[in-house]
Amino acid sequence: MKVVCTQASQVLGARLAGRLGVETIDVAFSRFPDGEIFLSRGETDGETVIVGAVTGAEDLVELMLLVDACDDSANTLVLPYMAYARQDKRFRPGEPLSVRAIARALSAGVDRVLTVNVHDPSALAHFTVPATDVSVAPEIGRHLVRRGGDLLVLSPDDGAARFAAEVASVGGFATDWLDKTRLSGDRVEIRPKSLPVEGREVVIVDDIISTGGTLAAAARMLLEQGATGVRAACVHGVFAGGALLHLAAAGVGGVVCSDTIERANSCIMAAGPIADALR
Ligand code: R5P
Repeated sequence: MKVVCTQASQVLGARLAGRLGVETIDVAFSRFPDGEIFLSRGETDGETVIVGAVTGAEDLVELMLLVDACDDSANTLVLPYMAYARQDKRFRPGEPLSVRAIARALSAGVDRVLTVNVHDPSALAHFTVPATDVSVAPEIGRHLVRRGGDLLVLSPDDGAARFAAEVASVGGFATDWLDKTRLSGDRVEIRPKSLPVEGREVVIVDDIISTGGTLAAAARMLLEQGATGVRAACVHGVFAGGALLHLAAAGVGGVVCSDTIERANSCIMAAGPIADALR
């Protein structure tokens, strides 16, 4: 077995190879004069683990080319982040089921797929090969334990409450979720469902931080309600359009994410749970 990765997942790919005790395959990435992506890989070894986060169209094309280049081996696709997974319903007639389109495209040429905290597990059914999801929630929990403190771990909505509970259980932290009440057309009140935050250090956890809008609104209200500090942790740090700046401006004391999308603050490593699932 060898590991190969796209440019988007070089750190995670190398860490995963280290965990598995296998070699990585070198890849030369280049472009044709018209901008088309090109690549050329080194020797495969019968079984290849292909690692490639997809945050947008360029990543997707590069990953599809890499899978095609590995057609002489049995391939497992590790998809650390799957863009388009949030369009998992047709909200209006005429819209695509984007998650299905991406899943179908990425099933071609691979024998199985492994996702990491995919936005909704229903995505797995859209792959045409066996697909499983692994969770880095325990890694986030261990990170919080290392940082110390008597924390309250909150999810921004009831949908992520199970994820927050998974994180909190590692350190025996209290956990709750945020309840949003619409007060008027443009005013909402966000409160923890049952636990008071006054005098507590809060960590908000979510699968994705994209614009940071959800967490910024929550952080402002939690600080108004007397939380002594608010931090944030997520699996996938998309951080679109100045999200980290918005969170800092809202009083969020620190934001960490995993290396499913490789960022400067990716201090939670996904390689361990992925390696365990591959073994
Ligand atoms: C939504 O269902 C996700 O779990 C996240 O809460 C959402 O993607 C966060 O988006 P944003 O950072 O743009 O508020």
